[in-house]
Amino acid sequence: MRPMSIDDRYPNLHVSRHPLVAHKLSLLRDTRTDPKQFRELVRELSWLIGYEAMADLTTQPRSIETPLEAMEGARVEPKVGLVPVLRAGLGMVEAVLELMPSAEVWHIGLYRDERTLKPVEYYNKLPDAATVQVCLILDPMLATGGSSAATVDILKAWGAARIKQVSLIAAPEGIATLSSAHADVDIHVAAVDRELNERGYIVPGLGDAGDRQFGTFAGPASEPGHAHDETAEIVRRLQRNLQNP
Ligand code: PRP
Ligand code: URA
Repeated sequence: MRPMSIDDRYPNLHVSRHPLVAHKLSLLRDTRTDPKQFRELVRELSWLIGYEAMADLTTQPRSIETPLEAMEGARVEPKVGLVPVLRAGLGMVEAVLELMPSAEVWHIGLYRDERTLKPVEYYNKLPDAATVQVCLILDPMLATGGSSAATVDILKAWGAARIKQVSLIAAPEGIATLSSAHADVDIHVAAVDRELNERGYIVPGLGDAGDRQFGTFAGPASEPGHAHDETAEIVRRLQRNLQNP
């Protein structure tokens, strides 16, 4: 019998099988890819994964006239909101806006505390009530899943009816965390990698997606180094949860 794959285990997980995605993702991961090319690849991959993520949007009939005759066309029904998670999600916005020019863009600012791996919120200007029905969270990396689960909490409290996570690379630990907190959130990714390392980075991964886009390599982020004991224990706990859900 075929061993259970991660896609079998999480019905909300959608991993792209497109060869162009695999090709571009390999270039993105490559340590020799400079920030300019990295940003271009983030953009191209976001277009492709965003396109797949919107495949189930409902449409309404719309009467149109071609130069030859009248016909029934289609119009996307729900109002869509793009929710880039700062900073790294910024590089995904333009591509998805190209697909859905009428989408609203609502930024959420979160950074991950390097020691506890917990998300810290620093920007949120959502109005009182939701103005869109479908939200696409844009963030290239789903690592522990903490940032994503926190963003979904914010969007559900706001009143978003449907939420999808659009990422480039996910770790199994992050998929488990997000799916157990929010099983109704679809996760669309270009790839699922092996695991988190003891510092909470996805391996093989691509390093720090924000730093690689914006050329900010001053921090310890994706450089080799020892994890703090507390951080390594948090990662081990996530890995145990994954083995024994
Ligand atoms: C990265 C990434 C996600 C988060 C993922 O952001 O863009 O938001 O980490 O990690 P998690 O799944 O363990 O929460 P980071 O905190 O590095 O902030 P930045 O984009 O501002 O660099
Ligand atoms: N954030 C990143 O940018 N990369 C990782 O591998 C994990 C979190």
